[in-house]
Amino acid sequence: MKILVVGGGGREHALLWALRRDAPQASLFCLPGNAGTARLATNLPGRATDVPAITRLATAERFDLVVVGPEAPLALGLVDQLAAAGVPVFGPTAAAARIESSKAFAKSLMNRHGVPTATARTFTDLDAALRYIGAHEEPLLVKASGLAAGKGAIVCRTRAEARAAAALMLRDRSFGEAGHEILVEEFLEGEELSVLALTDGEHFAVLPPAQDHKRLLDGDAGPNTGGMGAYSPVSIATDRLLADVAAEVFGPTLRGLSEAGTPYRGVLYAGLMLRPDGSLAVIEFNCRFGDPEAQAILAVLPGGVLPVLRMIAEGGWMPPGHRFGDARGAAVTTVLAAEGYPEHPKLGAAIAIPADLEDDPHLHLFHAGTAADSDGTLRVAGGRVLAVTATGAGVEEAADRSREAAERIAFEGRQFRRDIGWREIARRA
Ligand code: AMP
Ligand code: GLY
Repeated sequence: MKILVVGGGGREHALLWALRRDAPQASLFCLPGNAGTARLATNLPGRATDVPAITRLATAERFDLVVVGPEAPLALGLVDQLAAAGVPVFGPTAAAARIESSKAFAKSLMNRHGVPTATARTFTDLDAALRYIGAHEEPLLVKASGLAAGKGAIVCRTRAEARAAAALMLRDRSFGEAGHEILVEEFLEGEELSVLALTDGEHFAVLPPAQDHKRLLDGDAGPNTGGMGAYSPVSIATDRLLADVAAEVFGPTLRGLSEAGTPYRGVLYAGLMLRPDGSLAVIEFNCRFGDPEAQAILAVLPGGVLPVLRMIAEGGWMPPGHRFGDARGAAVTTVLAAEGYPEHPKLGAAIAIPADLEDDPHLHLFHAGTAADSDGTLRVAGGRVLAVTATGAGVEEAADRSREAAERIAFEGRQFRRDIGWREIARRA
């Protein structure tokens, strides 16, 4: 079996690790990959967003399965092109991926199908947006509708800040095409939770839930990032809550997409807010695995992901009620980021990893922005560098292991949070 994973981050390294576990004999490829994926798979040169080149390659190489990691190639229609060429591919079509690539599309779908979400209005006209902002309560969020690499949502404490954010997007075009349409959204209080489901468009299987840590610094301080760490499972995500998420979020959303003629096949990521009154609301959908959530989620799964990805990619139906085995213990992922991340990551520093960490059965050192010199020296090649994932009987144990391992991996300017999983640990204390 020949499998290609498209992408080159920690999520893709973790996907390859999970595929390798399920299929020890398979030939694995990654495009473009990183220094870590090169140990599990053959890295292929190219860009994850080069749809024509990947389509030509996949046709020529006759891959049995292509798994698309990041959102950009999904939004560009990589799945549509591969499917048209007869290549089994896991991921949604461009039309279905609009659930992430257009927040305006997602909001209108949710509103039409009664999916709980923050009240928002969509604008392309600045004056209309300013009038709406003037008539609504602070705080507000101003969001670019299109893909903005996780930086498109601005929390505005005051109306004045919201006006400035709207002008930045609609007048100054600071977010380019992604901000030609914006949402002005109600601010929701509560605790965030990520719930991901694998789906054939109709049936779905929910994965162990996770919690991301988006801020750069301990105590959820500092600027927003792509994600500085994650853990799974999350005790507040009880079976009852997950049943509500299935009934109120995944069910109606997938039905809505099917009815619109754009059925969704792949992994659907619901970013939720659990509100103080016990209700839930969708903050955003993603059309892919989360990064770094995938690293923690895949580490607690007992295996069995590959058969489901293949079934979905080949156009089959999942057995209704399919369940993955219960999470095995807990996993905590600590992201090591480059100096200057997220604004101006500094690349090139040499990375030193103690050998015993590589051999520890409770640790997975998933690579993200890494590259190896010809002499094997590992170097920083991206903003997020490594996703140090540890398993343990519970979140405390996994968090200690992950933090201690992160502490021992050295490179100049290294940044990481020492409090990943703090909410869960505080709940248990
Ligand atoms: P988004 O780009 O929509 O995923 O938003 C990025 C982050 O902004 C989320 O993960 C939340 O932390 C925060 N956020 C987004 N929308 C809201 C909202 N309506 N209320 C409170 N926080 C939000
Ligand atoms: N960690 C958040 C995301 O993958 O979108």
